Amino acid sequence: MAFVYDLVVVLHLLGMAALVGGWAAFARKGLDTTELMSLGARAQVVTGLVLVALAEGVSSLDKDLNHPKIGVKLVVAIAAAACIEIARARAKRGAPLNRGLVMASGGLGVLNVAVAALWN
Ligand code: HEM
Repeated sequence: MAFVYDLVVVLHLLGMAALVGGWAAFARKGLDTTELMSLGARAQVVTGLVLVALAEGVSSLDKDLNHPKIGVKLVVAIAAAACIEIARARAKRGAPLNRGLVMASGGLGVLNVAVAALWN
């Protein structure tokens, strides 16, 4: 089961790469990477919740999660996903892509990397 957990951590990190990498390409080169960011943002919420379920449900993993930290990450991750979904939905209806919402989504992704790494 430890292998499954680690595999989900790999997917979690790939989701982070899609969200933050897509955001960097949007910010620097003006590329429309919002589909990649949306995929990454959704993956973060889903894989994060799977990690929590495994950590809490499988005692042999011997994980002791920091619940306030996970709660903050969940709220920030949902906000990041909401920003990119709203930006994409509006653009699909013909409005110009809202740069502020896309930047906010990537910025929230970076904030969550900082929370993950710095809050011990
Ligand atoms: C944009 C959203 C997110 C980003 C960028 C992100 C980033 C990261 C990173 C870089 C790690 C590896 C470093 C570490 O082990 O602390 C990690 C691990 C983890 N994340 Fe996230 N995360 C996000 C969302 C979430 C969400 C929504 C949850 C749960 C609701 C979550 C739960 C976890 C868990 C349980 C681990 C593993 C901790 C461990 O095994 O010690 N993450 N995350």
